[in-house]
This record gives sequence, structure tokens and C-alpha cells, in this order.
Amino acid sequence: MNIILLGAPGAGKGTQAKRISEKYKIVHISTGDIFRENIKSGTPLGVEAKKLIDKGQFVPDDLTCQTVESRLSNSDCKNGAMLDGFPRNLYQAEFLKQITNIDKVINIAVPLECLMARLTGRRVCRECGESFHIDSLNGETKCSYCSGELYQRDDDNEEAVATRLAIYTTKTQVLIDYYEKLGVLKTVDGSKEKSDVFKEIEVLLD
Ligand code: AP5
Ligand code: MG
Repeated sequence: MNIILLGAPGAGKGTQAKRISEKYKIVHISTGDIFRENIKSGTPLGVEAKKLIDKGQFVPDDLTCQTVESRLSNSDCKNGAMLDGFPRNLYQAEFLKQITNIDKVINIAVPLECLMARLTGRRVCRECGESFHIDSLNGETKCSYCSGELYQRDDDNEEAVATRLAIYTTKTQVLIDYYEKLGVLKTVDGSKEKSDVFKEIEVLLD
């Protein structure tokens, strides 16, 4: 089964993807995570991507599509994969349609005005990737799941988040209609508690 997780920056794609991949044993492919791994290891893709990601802008379609096509050709995807953060515009959606079939698209809907605070207050575990918010951390700097160090992403500052949200509105939001017309779209309420959002997703996947 191939699943797409659609949603604005900060909607909870990564949070829910982690839970889905643990429960349903589906490979989680996050283009953002792949780019950050490349940035960390200093590959040419990472060097190119960092200049854009830090400003909240998209990585060019050709680089992004090549990255996804190559990742989907790995043997661990032969029974399906869950895409988080791809596609993000109509070009990428059309590209994906040429290379694979899509069974379900889960749109995590959250009012955009909630997302600036979610993202500027986010802290991510370097080890297991779990996300937290400073409001619930009470000054804690280690992950409550694995004791890994928590850090703030370079694109989680006000300026970059504002750009990411604006680009979501102009480029990505159209994909809701696109997948609705293809009859594969389901929407969950991403403003609920994380565990309640996951319960809605479980109903769609069980
Ligand atoms: P990417 O890493 O995908 O960033 P994003 O889309 O901006 O989304 P985020 O990862 O910030 O948010 P999320 O929805 O995963 O939310 P999370 O679960 O962490 O991409 C980064 C960059 O890479 C892009 O800006 C672009 O430059 C480039 N890129 C990637 N893909 C690309 C593509 N296809 N084309 C071109 N460029 C591309 O949750 C956020 C926070 O909210 C956390 O603190 C979390 O704890 C909290 N939270 C989650 N759920 C809830 C809830 N239900 N209630 C309260 N808080 C919650
Ligand atoms: Mg994410």
C-alpha cells in the first residue's frame, strides 16, 4: 500500500508518520529528513538543499523527484511506502503518478494560524526523531523516549516558517483538490491531541 501524508508545515506529518510506520510496518519516507541527512553528511545534494531549506524555500523539483524515485526503488519499498512531504506541488504529483500508484492520501488539517507557534517552539530528538514542544518540555533538553539530545531545526525560525506557510498556501494546498478528484483523499483533524489524530488515522487504515 502506498500512502501520502499531506499537510502544512507543522501539521503533524512526521509525528503521525512515526506512529503509522511503527504500527503498520510501512516504510516512512520524508523528503525533509532525506535532505537533512544529506546536509549533515555534506553531500552535493545537501549543500544545494541547505541554501534553500534554511530560507524556507523548496528544493528544485528535478532534485526532489530524482531523490524520491531513487528511494522508492529500494527493495524495502516493494510492499509500499508512506510519503511524508512529497509531493508538494502539482508537478511532483504528476511525476509521482507516472512512477507509482497511490492508494490513500491522508490530509492532516490544522488551521494555519496555529502553526507558527507549533514550529518555532518545536524541538526534535537527534536520535529517534520524536518532536516535542517547549511548552510541554519544562526546560528538559533530553528526549523522554530515548534520552537523545533535543535540537531546534534551522528552518524553525519565524522568517523561514512564514515563507514555508506562504509556499504551502500557494503551491501545496491545491493537492487537496487534486487527490479529492482522484477519489483517494481522506482528511483527519490535526488540531486534536496527537493520540486522537492517530486514532482517526487508524480508522482509515485498519
Ligand atoms: P519537512 O521536513 O517536510 O518540513 P515541513 O513540511 O515544513 O513539515 P515539518 O516537518 O516542519 O512539520 P510536520 O508536519 O512533520 O510536523 P511535526 O510532526 O514535526 O521539509 C523541510 C524542507 O525541505 C521544506 O521546507 C523544503 O525546503 C524541503 N522539502 C521537503 N520536501 C520537499 C519537496 N517535496 N519539494 C521541495 N522541497 C522539499 O509536528 C510539528 C510540531 O507540532 C512538533 O513540535 C510536534 O510535537 C507538534 N505537534 C504535532 N502534532 C500535534 C498535535 N496534534 N497537537 C499539538 N502539537 C502537535
Ligand atoms: Mg516533518
